Amino acid sequence: MNSVNTIFCGDILDFVDDPAIQGENAHRFFAQGALVVENGKVAKLGYEQDIFSDLRKNNQLADYQVVRYDDQLIMPGMIDTHIHLPQIEMIGAYGEQLLTWLTEYAFPTEKKFANEEYAKAISNIFLDELLKNGTTTALVFCTVHPESVNAFFTEAQKRNLRMIAGKVMMDRNCPEDLSDCVSSSYQESKVLIEKWHNVDRLQYAVTPRFAPTSSDEQLAQCKTLLDEYPDVYLHTHLSENHNECEWVKTLFPNSTDYLGVYEDAGLVRKRSVFAHGIHLSEREMTCLADNQAAISHCPTSNLFLGSGLFNLKSCEQHKVKVGMGTDVGAGTSFSLLQTASEAYKIQQLKHEKFSAFKGLYLVTLGGARALDLEGTIGNFDLGCEADFIVLDNQATPFLNFRLSHTRTLHERLFTLMMLGDDRCIKETYIMGQSVHQRDLAYASNKVEEC
Ligand code: GUN
Ligand code: ZN
Repeated sequence: MNSVNTIFCGDILDFVDDPAIQGENAHRFFAQGALVVENGKVAKLGYEQDIFSDLRKNNQLADYQVVRYDDQLIMPGMIDTHIHLPQIEMIGAYGEQLLTWLTEYAFPTEKKFANEEYAKAISNIFLDELLKNGTTTALVFCTVHPESVNAFFTEAQKRNLRMIAGKVMMDRNCPEDLSDCVSSSYQESKVLIEKWHNVDRLQYAVTPRFAPTSSDEQLAQCKTLLDEYPDVYLHTHLSENHNECEWVKTLFPNSTDYLGVYEDAGLVRKRSVFAHGIHLSEREMTCLADNQAAISHCPTSNLFLGSGLFNLKSCEQHKVKVGMGTDVGAGTSFSLLQTASEAYKIQQLKHEKFSAFKGLYLVTLGGARALDLEGTIGNFDLGCEADFIVLDNQATPFLNFRLSHTRTLHERLFTLMMLGDDRCIKETYIMGQSVHQRDLAYASNKVEEC
């Protein structure tokens, strides 16, 4: 635990609510602000002048080290609510939509994760990439192999990260060597929950891949696990692709609709996170809202696989919780700035507005709410874990030039959201400790061979 207390100075932005609800009151912006971190947690937030004068008055200023990021933007670490660990080596694979893409690209790659050493090596590349992109928490699909989860959690634990992950459960409609069965998937998940859930900053997600790859009996075992461990997550896919939706109808003829399959199995709950949710009915939206379940919106993936245009407006109207997911490797970028930028373009195609405030809310507090972690991560409320990032307005000469032509805070943030990527993430902090410095990382400029 970090015992050094630090004051971080710079422009500071965070969110206290959804801009769709609170408008301009949803964000806090402190030009020349100060974020005070004590023992890895947020202790004070405000204008630099006020915070320094209070500490001086109380003769406490000497107790703090001061780190300055003048003219840079300090924000909470970003939260990726849906990403696949094993798919990083085939990100950007050519030419297919979901169901063929799974069999051509995803399944063959996932077979490699039976080897724990391989899974560890990939986990480290994956975690480096998250931190480089300013993502400090993620909800992660591992593979069907428990080894993949052990490897991932082992490496995340070494870095003191808040990560949520789980073993994929799938007992049908997949290659034989990626298939588990009802009893092994239950037993292996249970062992992993006992071993990792709530250990340090790690949490477990029961992870049936999607309805087509689980039997009714396996979905029933997912419910048993959620009943036995009520604070674990449920993480799966929902209503992403038209052919997938048709397939679900034939596999589960007795369920009302796609979400109904999960609902009938007792899996639609407060900590349930459903990736995509593109083709949902009014009934499904209402059911998600009533049960406080969340959707992870994955725009780069939805465009890459040609899956469809997400109905964010309907989520707002129904008060469905939404976070943002990269869905790497169907998603094409680790960057949640790029992900928010693609979300903007999807809303343009639907003739809906999507402000920078909305985008930056979704990648921070929106993600925390989707994961039921508000008050722990996602903003700078007192007591929150001090996972945060420093965004560099001068990341490239051109970005500097473009930003010099912005007049309002929203213009500045919108430019950062549309043009920003990992080059803008100057520094990433975990519990108040610097874990990624862009200028050092890019000087070495290498990704390990695997
Ligand atoms: N549906 C079931 N599995 C997957 C997957 O690995 N990626 C995406 N995008 N959708 C899925
Ligand atoms: Zn996915």
